[in-house]
Amino acid sequence: MFANPSVKYRPFPPVPIVDRRWPSQTITKAPIWCSVDLRDGNQALAVPMNVSQKLEMFDALVKCRFKEIEIGFPAASNTEFTFNRCLIEEGRIPDDVTVQVLVQAREDLIERTFESLVGAKKVIIHMYNSTSPAQRRVVFGKTKEEIVGMARNGAQMIKNRLPRLAGTDVRLQYSPESFSATEVEFAKEISEAVMDVWQPTPERPMILNLPDTVEVAMPNVYADQIEWICRNIKNRESLIISLHTHNDRGTGTAATELGLLAGADRVEGTLFGNGERTGNLDIVTVAMNLFMHGIAPGLDFSRMNDLIGMYERTTGMSVPPRQPYAGELVFTAFSGSHQDAIKKGLNAWEKAGTGAIWDIPYLTIDPHDIGRQYREVIRVNSQSGKGGVAYLLESEYGINLPKDLQREFGPLANDLVDSLGREVTATELRDMFCKEYVDRTTPWALTDLDAEGKPGGTIRCKAAVTHHGTPAEITGEGNGPLAAFVHALTTHSGQPFEITHYSEHALGTGTDAQAIAYIQVKTADGKRGFGAGVDTSIELAGIRAILSALNRTS
Ligand code: KIV
Ligand code: ZN
Repeated sequence: MFANPSVKYRPFPPVPIVDRRWPSQTITKAPIWCSVDLRDGNQALAVPMNVSQKLEMFDALVKCRFKEIEIGFPAASNTEFTFNRCLIEEGRIPDDVTVQVLVQAREDLIERTFESLVGAKKVIIHMYNSTSPAQRRVVFGKTKEEIVGMARNGAQMIKNRLPRLAGTDVRLQYSPESFSATEVEFAKEISEAVMDVWQPTPERPMILNLPDTVEVAMPNVYADQIEWICRNIKNRESLIISLHTHNDRGTGTAATELGLLAGADRVEGTLFGNGERTGNLDIVTVAMNLFMHGIAPGLDFSRMNDLIGMYERTTGMSVPPRQPYAGELVFTAFSGSHQDAIKKGLNAWEKAGTGAIWDIPYLTIDPHDIGRQYREVIRVNSQSGKGGVAYLLESEYGINLPKDLQREFGPLANDLVDSLGREVTATELRDMFCKEYVDRTTPWALTDLDAEGKPGGTIRCKAAVTHHGTPAEITGEGNGPLAAFVHALTTHSGQPFEITHYSEHALGTGTDAQAIAYIQVKTADGKRGFGAGVDTSIELAGIRAILSALNRTS
């Protein structure tokens, strides 16, 4: 079978469109969004949400600024019906939010649906029936005419009951379910039959939702289907064309974006793509894709972690670590070269100041925009290099390693991480750094130091040190405490060395803040090595750094 799938499967037929226009369009504004989490998402859960979980999700969707929310299939179960009533009777629906309910073209279900809506301010009644050849043949055993008849009758039943919802702003939506597997000519015919009943106008348009119920073809084919309908259906100006994609071939996002190019006005989807089988369209991804091109999406995902928490609590699903924008790892770089580029990019961007356009290698958006921290961006494992190590030490502990020290410590840290065989935290990295560069007390250790003299003049220093545990008093002089200490030490040991790098900075702020000094020494036999020292006195920090460097090179 794998060698010859053509004996079992067939290619998707092309759409009869030759002069397609969508490939040369661009998306310049956000579509109307409709969340179908509480209906399509919910119906796909092993354990559907209870009323309180649905309420929690409804409130979260409102906070994300969805203005159209499909709240359920009220005729399907008591929970669904009760949820509708609860939202309406407890006044939980903000005035600018329209709730949408789904119903099949069946009288008993339509009746119950109307009962569930009494007292609502703004609703969309969404009727659907399936239209593809396979559904017509296998599920309904009906001809095209009979299927059109079902849709027309359902539309009429809804129309007849509209007076019951006097005082409610009612809009109507029709979905030829399995649209993408339906002949476009038939999808047009059945949609126009529903339009004939509902009589939409440009002032009171109806929503024509064109579902990719099961994704059966490439996204360009869906775009062709959408463009074909937009160009051929009657009274296009009286329709809001809506997309509803699923993700069976893994291209729900692409199909939606190409569908928008093809002329659609509205998008249905769910948070993080929850939904039947491989899921519905992930609405977060499409909205954030607009955002990253500078187009205001009209939805707010600035508290992504809270949203994920709510989603996981209410649905029992989880957001995979590589889910676009939302996954735990999507802004994380482990690779050394990526970390290096990100670190440089962030520095340049910060230097450019407010208003600078975001153009950071490997980061599509600023993680802060969705409430993430830069500390999540760079994480260190055996694939990481000096850039990541330096970034973490600097961002988490204010330890700003000089470039040459970064080059020296990077590979050392990498070997240590490699031997651990796992990711390391910033604290572990700091501990590794301190063990290697700061806490070196053999052979040399400082016990006491006394330096005197006027600034600008000669400084005399007297220090108590130990060498392999043997105490010694050393004295020396120079034009500063550091020079005096070097003089004392080389005089005592008879082993000259040169300081080839010196830098220091404060660790933190305030009068009792500590300082860190970095010193590189070059010994008489040409060995170079860094040491670091930490103390509240900058002189002592430098002297400790000298001893540490000597200890590392001895
Ligand atoms: O996927 C689908 O076709 C649906 C319809 C009911 C709109 O969910
Ligand atoms: Zn669906």
